Amino acid sequence: MKILIACEYSGVVREAFAALGHDAMSCDFLPSEQPGKHYQGDVRDVLYEEWDLMIAHPPCTYLTNAGVRHLHTDPKRWPKLFDAAEFFKLFLNSDHIPMRAIENPIMHKYAKTLIGGVKQSQVVQPWMFGHMEQKATCLWLRGLEPLQPTNNVKEEMMLLPKNQRERLHYLPPSADRWKERSRTPKGIADAMASQWNVC
Ligand SMILES: C[S@@+](CC[C@H](N)C(=O)[O-])C[C@H]1O[C@@H](n2cnc3c(N)ncnc32)[C@H](O)[C@@H]1O
Repeated sequence: MKILIACEYSGVVREAFAALGHDAMSCDFLPSEQPGKHYQGDVRDVLYEEWDLMIAHPPCTYLTNAGVRHLHTDPKRWPKLFDAAEFFKLFLNSDHIPMRAIENPIMHKYAKTLIGGVKQSQVVQPWMFGHMEQKATCLWLRGLEPLQPTNNVKEEMMLLPKNQRERLHYLPPSADRWKERSRTPKGIADAMASQWNVC
């Protein structure tokens, strides 16, 4: 299959599909963290090529429920929210790509309204795929079946202290904090590649 991994700098999802023999390309303004087929630039340059499957990770800074409080203290965030919602909808409405998954955290109510009230298809957690961590991730799916958990480690994870199982939430401030938080867990990438290996 020809696969576009939109807004991915880590190469994690791209390499999971490439390992199964697919022609997978990631795209991001940033270079790829690991060697592989990557277009460094605006995803809109390549979005309208022929793809069988797209997995998109659009930025969540202005859409996520975790940041909703800032909207009430910083009016400059509103136009950025409108732009982020439009960008998200670009992937949701890419009907020329028959199979699509768009990933984002739980959205706040304004973002949900701006994307037209289209509900996510499922919510997954890293602990469903072998990672001892919590971070709710929503997937909007078109032409794809919901992901099935591959290795549920919730019971063991719950034995860990909160700051360990919510490691991503408690990461100290740093220039790369957002990168660490947004990198797709390998267990989820592997599940996507093995379960959406449909051609
Ligand atoms: C939330 S991060 C996703 C990271 C991804 N889960 C990974 O493992 O690499 C969103 C990414 O979208 C990229 N991005 C934002 N606008 C873009 C655009 N128009 N074209 C390409 N990439 C874009 C950013 O550079 C950022 O790396």
